[in-house]
Amino acid sequence: MNNKLVIANWKMHGHQAANARLIGGLLPTLERLDSVQVAICPPTPYLAQVSELLADTAVAIGAQNLSERAQGAYTGEVSGQMLADLGCRYVLVGHSERRSLFGETDAQVAMKFEAALAAGLTPVLCLGESIHQRRAGNTNAVVGSQLKAVLDQVGIEQLAKGVIAYEPVWAIGTGASASPEQAQQAHLHIRQLLAAHAPALASRIALLYGGSVNATNAAELFAQHDIDGGLIGGASLDAACFSAICQAADTGALPVSADNIYNKDPA
Ligand code: 13P
Repeated sequence: MNNKLVIANWKMHGHQAANARLIGGLLPTLERLDSVQVAICPPTPYLAQVSELLADTAVAIGAQNLSERAQGAYTGEVSGQMLADLGCRYVLVGHSERRSLFGETDAQVAMKFEAALAAGLTPVLCLGESIHQRRAGNTNAVVGSQLKAVLDQVGIEQLAKGVIAYEPVWAIGTGASASPEQAQQAHLHIRQLLAAHAPALASRIALLYGGSVNATNAAELFAQHDIDGGLIGGASLDAACFSAICQAADTGALPVSADNIYNKDPA
């Protein structure tokens, strides 16, 4: 059974009044979903507000980034423990915007992944190739080396406690999503890399697709065998669009519980 996970990444958008309107517009739909876990990642200053707005709902909250350090004199940084303290369940790690605009290295991403787990958070590891890398035929190699950096740091057992999001850089914010076939191919490659380490765990790790998912293309993307949900940017800022995307992920299967969210093939 395939229970999907759909995560909204608001990036650096919103303000308190807009956040309240957006959540208010989403809840009537989100509260009726059967078989999809939804999480919302607002900007850090709004985590407490959004957490309060989502209290007593099944919608989880997550952060967009965390420090690789646990605590100390690191001005401006936010630790995993602080995010957990605010009620976060998820945290994005290694988003391509963090890698390309803020210089995050594979090694730093791996440390952040480990720090998230240490704080009891579920890290959502973002992987993806640039258009040049794709055109050069290097998609699998790039995604493989980004994954390997984290595998080398934490091992497959710990990696399997996280979620992986394949987000081709060329599809992010461009309106040009990967085709369902392109996305499925990349996801299958990631699944096979994981399976080479631990076949039983590989099938249980949620692999999300991100990059210009919208209300129109979501259902076909989510129908692919190795696509377990989505990481949604721009379309998550519009209540009608994000509601439709979440509905497209809702297979109407099992009721969501902490135990059955990720396990598409429970052992
Ligand atoms: P868009 O959905 O706006 O393309 O963004 C995807 C993304 O980066 C989510 O993390």
